[in-house]
Amino acid sequence: MNILQSVNELRSQILRWRQAGQSIAFVPTMGNLHAGHLKLVDVAKQQADQVICSIFVNPMQFGKNEDLASYPRTLEDDIAGLTQHGAAALFTPTPEIMYPRGLDVQSYVEVPLLGDLHCGASRAGHFRGVSTVVSKLFNLVQPDVACFGQKDYQQLAIIRQMVTDLSFPIRIIGVPTERAADGLALSSRNGYLSASQRQQAPALYQILQQVKAAILAGQHDYRALERQAKADLTEAGFRPDYFDISHQHTLALAEHATEPKVILAAAALGTTRLIDNLEV
Ligand code: PAJ
Repeated sequence: MNILQSVNELRSQILRWRQAGQSIAFVPTMGNLHAGHLKLVDVAKQQADQVICSIFVNPMQFGKNEDLASYPRTLEDDIAGLTQHGAAALFTPTPEIMYPRGLDVQSYVEVPLLGDLHCGASRAGHFRGVSTVVSKLFNLVQPDVACFGQKDYQQLAIIRQMVTDLSFPIRIIGVPTERAADGLALSSRNGYLSASQRQQAPALYQILQQVKAAILAGQHDYRALERQAKADLTEAGFRPDYFDISHQHTLALAEHATEPKVILAAAALGTTRLIDNLEV
């Protein structure tokens, strides 16, 4: 696997592939790769001739009191995993390369309607940081296809909207969430959990499944289901942030039985914030 640290190295790699008539699939990440990330690479491989990943812990999407400094950085293991899964190249820019003048940039990409809900409501500026860095990465890599996980359902919806609104000629593929055997969605942040919190953590997915079953059984007082789920989360040791039964596309709260729905949830165990979701 070719490791590309500078924009020049990246551009020459992309140019070589393009001159050989090859298509390119892109998997952006923040590293500390687990089986969920590697599944995106497997899906990407089915979509194009060459797969390129990026690892960049994007400071613009972290809030002041969030875990930017402690975010796990495991480059050697990441390189081994990507090589094993057949990625052809990895772009690992530094913050100085992505933000030569620091974070005080003058241009942002924002998707306000989708970006202000759910995680956006409790993490001000988070999705602006995500859509801005993903736009920059798209402009640098210029892939044909890019893969994102359904684990970050709201992020995926925002990227799809951004690509449509700004005419990026990139096909976006959503990849189903990879889970541990007990149902917990894989996440780089799971490593922050203590042994006992790790035992509690699967309750988040179990409660999502219970609510889905209730909806499918015909319960349609969605706000009551949300209140009950938050109480159940609290009972299971979580501090719930949101638990919303939403429309799959607008992500606004669902009102009607006929809407395609997704249940979106975020809750903290100690200082670790977990998110998960389930389509109904
Ligand atoms: P990161 O959290 O590293 O995730 C990179 C990609 O892996 C995202 O598309 C995410 O949805 C996907 N992913 C994470 N856990 C997954 C799981 N259990 N199953 C399937 N896919 C999973 O998301 C980001 O980084 C950043 O916001 C980024 C898009 C790279 C922009 O900085």
